[in-house]
Amino acid sequence: MTQSLVSSYALSVPPRTIMSPGPVEVDPRVLRAMSLPMLGQFDPAFTRIMNENMAMLRDVFQTKNHWAYPIDGTSRAGTEALLAALIEPGDKMLVPIFGRFGDLFVEIGERYGAEIHTMSCSWGTVFDQDEIISEIKKVHPKVVTLVHGETSTGRMQPLDKVGKACRELGVLLVVDAVATFCGVSIPTDAWCIDALIGGAQKCLSIPSGIVPITYNSRVEQQVLKRKKVERGIASDEDRRAAEGHVPIRSNYFDLGQLQDYWSERRLNHHTEATSMEYALHEGLHLVLEEGLENRFARHRVNAQALAAGIEAMGLELFGDPSCAMPTVTCVTVPENVDADEVRSVLLKHFGIEIAGSFGSLQGKIWRIGTMGYSCRQDHVLAVLTGLEAALIRCGASVNHGKGPQAAMDVYDQNS
Ligand SMILES: Cc1ncc(COP(=O)(O)O)c(C=O)c1O
Repeated sequence: MTQSLVSSYALSVPPRTIMSPGPVEVDPRVLRAMSLPMLGQFDPAFTRIMNENMAMLRDVFQTKNHWAYPIDGTSRAGTEALLAALIEPGDKMLVPIFGRFGDLFVEIGERYGAEIHTMSCSWGTVFDQDEIISEIKKVHPKVVTLVHGETSTGRMQPLDKVGKACRELGVLLVVDAVATFCGVSIPTDAWCIDALIGGAQKCLSIPSGIVPITYNSRVEQQVLKRKKVERGIASDEDRRAAEGHVPIRSNYFDLGQLQDYWSERRLNHHTEATSMEYALHEGLHLVLEEGLENRFARHRVNAQALAAGIEAMGLELFGDPSCAMPTVTCVTVPENVDADEVRSVLLKHFGIEIAGSFGSLQGKIWRIGTMGYSCRQDHVLAVLTGLEAALIRCGASVNHGKGPQAAMDVYDQNS
């Protein structure tokens, strides 16, 4: 039995149209890049790829920061690496929360010993920036953390004023842009963001497992203050420099050592994830070939078409429309409709995946992603068509045929 399985084995996966908020579909060019042969991690051909990734990341992050490089791990690895560097026990951290991923900052900050101060607003809205600024003045935190695009509610927090206020008040601003990076303009430097976490499996559209981050010299200073090179590779100078420091508490998420690895020194830390580095290279190239403005416009138009289609179908959009993300559209599940049953029908009959949500919104909304390679007209029209059919199958009443027509109107107006 085992023998026959082994001899006939070939991994296969069903074809899918992924319209969830990630992981989304990947451009075949990225998949091809990932199948390239291995290179050694100090091979000049590989370090060239690492350097090019840094250069492309600076462009995509819209920053002049020297430090723009990926952490190996999923997106929260970027958050954890930054908080591990910035938070020492007892440091104050202010976390405005408007969805699940604000709470993730609390989770990680707590584990590094932060004294956490939170503020919250109801899910489906965002904060008035002045409210955050007055809380900063009250709390005097070392670090403010904010989610830019809150995937769980589909809302996008304005950041321009908060960033400037943080800079004036001597506070560090760390932003989670996992769900908006490469889909929405985030001018890191102009908005005075000190550290930014991007995402891979969303609008950049490469597989999950690597996370681009960038940070400025204000963050770098904090990193260097706590620098310790691990004992097996430290030079005498490294050992002397580390004396009297409280080092960063994580070895894996140690930005001090990662900086040495991502610099001329190329001091070995971990073994870089070769194929993910290829994927990042190809993914960033695709973003720059398309052009940032064109890419942001593509995300805007597809989200508009999707929203128009949803409303024309007779469904309600969830949340404050003035701060809707153009990468995740939230739809209120109609009364007496089983949210998961509709998703299952959509997957079973159309091979289309959409998502539910978390916490108090579980079963109450669907979340439909328009991200990266999945953010396309054919996919939007397919999800509208499939959703209508699935809703009818599950006993809901909808305006027959109106959704795709309204979406096509938006595409015609924008063509
Ligand atoms: C806004 C946001 N932050 C953080 C994360 C965590 O990312 P990961 O699951 O890649 O660790 C996600 C994941 O969906 C997210 O949407």
